[in-house]
Amino acid sequence: MFRNGYMLRQTLPAPRSAAIVALMSILKIARMGHPVLRARSQPVADPSAPEIHGLIADMAETLADIGGAGLAAPQVHVPLRVVIFRVPQERLTGRADDQAQDLTAIINPVIEPQGDEKELGWEGCLSVPGLKGAVPRFARIRYHGLAPDGTRIDRTVEGFHARVVQHECDHLDGVLYPQRMTDMRLLMFVEEGTRYPIDLVTA
Ligand code: NI
Repeated sequence: MFRNGYMLRQTLPAPRSAAIVALMSILKIARMGHPVLRARSQPVADPSAPEIHGLIADMAETLADIGGAGLAAPQVHVPLRVVIFRVPQERLTGRADDQAQDLTAIINPVIEPQGDEKELGWEGCLSVPGLKGAVPRFARIRYHGLAPDGTRIDRTVEGFHARVVQHECDHLDGVLYPQRMTDMRLLMFVEEGTRYPIDLVTA
């Protein structure tokens, strides 16, 4: 059950039974240049499979450990259509349908842009460490897919919520955010961006 490269952590003290031993793993992140990030990921055939639930639990632990808004399965070397993400309060854009969102896991997600409007906003990626870039994304989208408990997720969202979903779902098609950029002058090291801030409204 321990896939190649996984670490084992037992997070609960003195379990009363084997059933409550928590076995979760922090996964290695693939970085830009690894072919898994260029591949098109496969749909999940059985969303109820224990392996999928294990993968999602491991992805959630990995994201919590590293910090970040989202993670797609190919970023942990698993070419399946699974993403997790959250919408932190501090990233909200002020749009009505851009609301803070706790961690969401979605299997076989599909995106439908709502209208043509695009917004420019900053993105980073755990697979492109140290950099950030300004990326145009659809301002409003509908997305749907399956939650790990088998229920259907169907949301219409805007702003950062729409951005993080588009970013994560791009990973499933082998697309990294620099490929979506239209002005490569706005690709930079995070440290330099902090030293020399750019206002995207006037950029
Ligand atoms: Ni990413």
